Amino acid sequence: MTKLILVLVAKILLLAALALAGDGGDFARTMNPKHLGLYKKEKLTYLRFYWHDMLKGRNPSAVVIQQPVSNSSSFGAMTMMDDPLTTDMPRNSTVVGQAQGIYADAAQGDICYLMIMNFAFKTGKYNGSTITILGRNPVFTKVREMPVVGGSGIFRFARGYVTAETKFFDFKGGEATVEYNCFIVHY
Ligand SMILES: *[C@@H]1O[C@H](CO)[C@@H](O)[C@H](O)[C@H]1NC(C)=O
Ligand SMILES: *[C@@H]1O[C@H](CO)[C@@H](O)[C@H](O)[C@H]1NC(C)=O
Ligand SMILES: *[C@@H]1O[C@H](CO)[C@@H](O)[C@H](O)[C@H]1NC(C)=O
Repeated sequence: MTKLILVLVAKILLLAALALAGDGGDFARTMNPKHLGLYKKEKLTYLRFYWHDMLKGRNPSAVVIQQPVSNSSSFGAMTMMDDPLTTDMPRNSTVVGQAQGIYADAAQGDICYLMIMNFAFKTGKYNGSTITILGRNPVFTKVREMPVVGGSGIFRFARGYVTAETKFFDFKGGEATVEYNCFIVHY
């Protein structure tokens, strides 16, 4: 009887040891947030630029990757974009980054996009840093607001929001220019 109990205790100890030190035993741990600069005061960065979507022409910056599910609405249509972001309204003004991602019409009987995009900056100290926008874009509303859900580089641990306001829209030509104002909290 005692022998059986001893064997059981040994087995339990062995299992506990395996749980502590076995495969994946140290894949996660808590660490001091100071190591990632999280003790610093957060900054608020404001950015403004213009997003240019061009579906037609010789060098389109966006392509339809999924046609709508019916001919009577654009519900289900998806477009992949690599759109330039410029400092001013004209398309040929200075490019500060690219908006890379997908917009998809996620509303039946309406045009309201699900926006999934990274703004990849390529100028000055922002070069190589990104922010990620995931939000709802009812394109015919004057000003739309979408959340900034994260970032990289300078914008690591970012949160915030952007507003989007259409400045130019040509359905036939497949062109749109949208002003983005971004309010980003980061370290
Ligand atoms: C949409 O219209 C085109 C031609 O007008 C037709 O060939 C196609 O089958 C229609 N698609 C749907 C999903 O009804
Ligand atoms: C941008 O294009 C406009 C005409 O479309 C032109 O007048 C202007 O000089 C161009 N600017 C630059 C910086 O190329
Ligand atoms: C941005 O970074 C890339 C890659 O490191 C580099 O090739 C490029 O010259 C940089 N651009 C500017 C404007 O600093």
